[in-house]
Amino acid sequence: MSTTTASLFTPYSLGELPLPNRIVMPPMTRSRSSQPGDVPNELMATYYAQRASAGLIISEGTWISPLGKGYAWTPGICTEAQIAGWRKVTDAVHAAGGRIFAQLWHVGRLSHSSLLDGQPPVSSSALQATGVNVYVVEADGKPGFAQASTPRALSVEEIHDIVDQYRQAARNAMAAGFDGVELHAANGYLVNQFIDSNANTRTDEYGGSLENRLRFLKEVSQTLVEGVGDASRVGIRLAPLTTLNGCSDADPETTYTAAAKLLDQIGVAYIHIAEADWEDAPLMPAPFKQRLRDAYRGCLIYAGNYTVERANTAIAEGWADLIGFGRTFIANPDLPERLRVGAPLNTPERETFFGGDAKGFTDYPTLAEATTA
Ligand SMILES: Cc1cc2nc3c(=O)[nH]c(=O)nc-3n(C[C@H](O)[C@H](O)[C@H](O)COP(=O)(O)O)c2cc1C
Repeated sequence: MSTTTASLFTPYSLGELPLPNRIVMPPMTRSRSSQPGDVPNELMATYYAQRASAGLIISEGTWISPLGKGYAWTPGICTEAQIAGWRKVTDAVHAAGGRIFAQLWHVGRLSHSSLLDGQPPVSSSALQATGVNVYVVEADGKPGFAQASTPRALSVEEIHDIVDQYRQAARNAMAAGFDGVELHAANGYLVNQFIDSNANTRTDEYGGSLENRLRFLKEVSQTLVEGVGDASRVGIRLAPLTTLNGCSDADPETTYTAAAKLLDQIGVAYIHIAEADWEDAPLMPAPFKQRLRDAYRGCLIYAGNYTVERANTAIAEGWADLIGFGRTFIANPDLPERLRVGAPLNTPERETFFGGDAKGFTDYPTLAEATTA
């Protein structure tokens, strides 16, 4: 790989969008939208604006249709109220000097019928996800985790309808003032349920061969480019090696190198690799990273347990352009400045990751606030 002298603090041009540094706040679900209606709100605007010094913010997953929702209190991007709510967020981030893409999400089988008006979730195939993996509202109104319900397989006509929903969601995101959109094709959600061989047992044009398993990714990516009107404002998130929610592939290097080639042809701005997700942290070998670099000419973002040192090595060795810092960004609104000066970091509190109020959301102190406190 060709080496560079760039570091996390070297500016970068993402298409026409100048980024002041290479630090990305990756998508993180926080389940704090206003009820009823799953509407983004002022508190969320404050949270994102506090983190506007990131080179790029990707919003938490935002569902593209009611059937694409898998966790309680997650925001959508379908209704007028949701679009207006997101407008508050994007305006606040832009006023604070930042840039923000919307992560577009359809969870597929990772949902529970209690979140879907009693209907079963949908997927490429009628295969239930393993593990206790979705976040529901219990009978007493309190949050709790449950196993995803058994899904039903989508018909081809329904698949085409979902592609149309993605196009509309991309239009809605641009109407809400986002700088672009990211497709959530990682972590075992709907697009991933088509790509990975163990989640897809279809025998029609959406299953079987590698080309068929990548067809949904291809159609959705193309439709997002159409919806946004500009390929340089579309990114795709992939998780080649994680086995989250029981989604895994028999030959990930071949599958995801082919996906990268396809996305190169479509011309999307970036591929965002979810390399490790918390404890699910398989080692991604250097030759695999090299294959992705060779297959795809755009920007490559990596996220998962990064430190400044690992991030700078990734950029200097040439296999990453930008690096996502997830949990550290939750706890440190001024993360880029802290990383630049080598300041100590606040510790993220797991108990307040999902649901709740300002506690553990907008009340983490900046360095200046911590020193004057
Ligand atoms: C609270 C929380 C919520 C998350 N929600 C999402 C999400 O909505 N979409 C997504 O693609 N990844 C999600 N992730 C994964 C992160 O984007 C990131 O890849 C992961 O946390 C690994 O990075 P880290 O080790 O720097 O935290 C979430 C992570 C956390 C901690």
